[in-house]
Amino acid sequence: MHTTVGIVGAGPAGLLLARLLHRSGIDCVVLEQRDRAYVEQRQRAGILEQSTVDVLRECGAADRLDREGLPHDGVELRWDGRRHRLDFPALTGGRRVWVYAQTEVVKDLIALQLRDGPPLLFEAGAEAIEGADTDRPLIRYRHDGRENTLTCDYVVGCDGFHGIARDAVPDTAKKTYERGYPYSWLGILADVAPSSDELVYAHSPRGFALLSMRSPRVSRLYLQVPNGTDPAAWPDERIWDELDARFALDGWTLRRGPVTAKAVLPMRSLVTEPMRHGRLFLAGDAAHIVPPTGAKGLNLAAADVTVLARAFAHLRRTRSADLLDAYSSTSLRRVWRAEHFSHFMTTTLHTDPAQGDFDVRLQISQLDRVAASPHAAAELADNYAGPPIA
Ligand code: APR
Ligand code: PHB
Repeated sequence: MHTTVGIVGAGPAGLLLARLLHRSGIDCVVLEQRDRAYVEQRQRAGILEQSTVDVLRECGAADRLDREGLPHDGVELRWDGRRHRLDFPALTGGRRVWVYAQTEVVKDLIALQLRDGPPLLFEAGAEAIEGADTDRPLIRYRHDGRENTLTCDYVVGCDGFHGIARDAVPDTAKKTYERGYPYSWLGILADVAPSSDELVYAHSPRGFALLSMRSPRVSRLYLQVPNGTDPAAWPDERIWDELDARFALDGWTLRRGPVTAKAVLPMRSLVTEPMRHGRLFLAGDAAHIVPPTGAKGLNLAAADVTVLARAFAHLRRTRSADLLDAYSSTSLRRVWRAEHFSHFMTTTLHTDPAQGDFDVRLQISQLDRVAASPHAAAELADNYAGPPIA
């Protein structure tokens, strides 16, 4: 089998890329190692930036998002017994964000893909990417118990953090920048109406907490916990009590309800440069990871493949590879901005077990500054709502 663009991975990056290429008349094949049910049920992030919504609309993948997604015009910060709301449209010249779960984006894109093509193979795990520095790269993959080969003009690794594409770039041709954090998130889904209309990011002496949602009836909540925490050590009652303590504010109450999912998520920051080796391109989590405090992971994946799809369309139209050659440097500018913002949000809001009182006073001073200065608030809102795609 031969295709123009071989895509490894059917997460949001691979699926959106396939949709965008299809709309430009470029053929591609998507290989996904898991089955459809697994990919559609995996719990992930839930915030779409304005530019992500714009591109989903442009490619006809936003019908359900426009019906069921919840537009949000702000978030609340809570610290030191105080609260401050950031008004995104006022601070960013009209941009906002949407609450719409990544799993729903993935379901919508899979449905379109299976309806309109191009081919999407589930339970087709890529085992090797070869010839990235030749004119005819290929993907070896296993499907229906057989070894297969997909030859391609280009290969795009959209196979996430644990995929094989990043490792297919020789160590001598890449550099990886990385840092870890001394805490994780315990995330729950609960069948209860969200206790706030907007997201609440809470700094507290007991650690960070985040109130988010999936719908008007389903809450999504997170607690900072030590690395290596066993979710079994957190019975539901203990989780609600701890959330109560961290969000505590006079006149505000947290609604409790049945917990339907519970998991511990580690955090890291990582960037691999460049995001291209010969005819192999990396996009989304395959190339970079952010801690979730800035809500950037899914949005970066969407921005990468938007830039890449435009570059392939430009190549097809003009025979010029200029935009493809610029893909890595164009994407890395946005990636590093998001890395900085995600690190800023994480270290401003979490309690590092090694930090002293001095560091806590600095965090509080930073949060006070956001509340007092329209410039500081605009800087945060501009990063959160995200820039247009370059
Ligand atoms: N062969 C085929 N598919 C693979 C392989 C492989 N060898 N390895 C991994 N995959 C698949 C995974 O099963 C997964 O479906 O690649 C997909 C990668 O998807 P994601 O991990 O969702 O990554 P990405 O599409 O870049 O999405 C961006 O943003 O919210 C964050 O981390 C969150 O998933 C999110 C990401
Ligand atoms: C989520 O709803 O899952 C979510 C929201 C905001 C974040 C991270 C996760 O910063």
